[in-house]
Amino acid sequence: MEKREVSIGLLGVGTVGTGVAKILLNQAELLEHRTGISFRLKSALDLDWSRDRGVDLSSVRCVTSADEILDDPEIDIVVETIGGCDPAYQYILRALNNSKHVVTANKALIATKGRELFSAANASNTDILFEASVGGGIPIVKGLREGLVANRILNIYGIVNGTSNYILTRMHQDGLEFEDALREAQDRGFAEADPTLDISGEDAAHKLVILASIAASKMVDLSDIYTEGIAGVTKLDVDFAKSFGYTIKLLAICRMGDGEMDLRVHPTLVPDSHLLASVSHELNAVFVEGDSVGKTMFYGPGAGQLPTASAIISDIVDLARDIQLRANSGYRTRTIDPFAHPTVKPVKSVSSRFYLRLYTYDAPGILARISGILGAHEISISSVVQLETHVHDNYVPLVILTHSAREDQMERALAEITSLEVILPDYLRLRLFQ
Ligand code: HSE
Repeated sequence: MEKREVSIGLLGVGTVGTGVAKILLNQAELLEHRTGISFRLKSALDLDWSRDRGVDLSSVRCVTSADEILDDPEIDIVVETIGGCDPAYQYILRALNNSKHVVTANKALIATKGRELFSAANASNTDILFEASVGGGIPIVKGLREGLVANRILNIYGIVNGTSNYILTRMHQDGLEFEDALREAQDRGFAEADPTLDISGEDAAHKLVILASIAASKMVDLSDIYTEGIAGVTKLDVDFAKSFGYTIKLLAICRMGDGEMDLRVHPTLVPDSHLLASVSHELNAVFVEGDSVGKTMFYGPGAGQLPTASAIISDIVDLARDIQLRANSGYRTRTIDPFAHPTVKPVKSVSSRFYLRLYTYDAPGILARISGILGAHEISISSVVQLETHVHDNYVPLVILTHSAREDQMERALAEITSLEVILPDYLRLRLFQ
């Protein structure tokens, strides 16, 4: 096989970019041995070169202007690890327009600008790869796109936000309050710079756009994803769920119906017997069901310097092999048609089992009024628990599990229930895993 050198330009040498540099420089021999290709980290962009990054960059051109990478005809692959949309988007577009392949870990960018980026890649016969954008070091993007290429994807259930999973795990296993667990997640470095993206479910929705678009081979819009985060989940809810035999997980859900995709991100009561319930702390997992393969689960670290860099390197190697073989460039990106829109099921017509937690005045006839409203909306109750131990001013927590009901039925029933003068405004509605 012809030996060839592939030159790489790295945009952004923060935590993840440093991980990429470390692997490219320290594992050069291993990568060359495995591929027959020599990987040269030619240039790296950052604004601050005074900081010691714990890696010897003496063989790398350390630049402060992106032009030196984007306009360098020697560079074959541009790796974007800056994050955020600006200027990452402009840099990537320029790289693609200059016929360079791109590797990015930038989930927000792929989720919001995927259409434009994939079109630009198609137009210039280049690839933009993004393995590290979902599930950190877990090879889920390639797993779906290539490993499961023979399958019609039926369902995806992902635990793809490590911060939310860490918080929920610490609440479930160790009885921590939400705020304390969030602070720990931030200290441990896997929360986003703005942790509201984690807590609001938006980061998981970005990742679901990516997974669902690969599954559908069409570009899903972020606005098509019904998104709820974990901010309303209290320790009381976690304890209630536990007593019913469930663990609360923030799930990114893609279910392929008959021609319609059901796309949602929300906290979900997962039965303790399901594999996803045992995915704890900051770990991620993506449960995928395909029509030929059946049920599979991809599991591992969803963030962190070296796991994320590991995923980026796998994209670099794929691109280098394509370059070496002069393979039909851009074919991996063509997996997703940027101009096709999948049909998405309106959330109001989705059915689930529900968990309702209310605070009700403790007096005769109230439970009958609530169950009457649910019954009038054709919602059937499967369990009810009222706690005597949490009485506040004669208000007590009441938890109801229902049989399957449509979202719009539940919405209408809840509007009536929460307008009762005997119900406090603080309530929570969650869905059960199905
Ligand atoms: N904030 C993300 C998380 C980092 O908590 O999973 C990885 O995308």
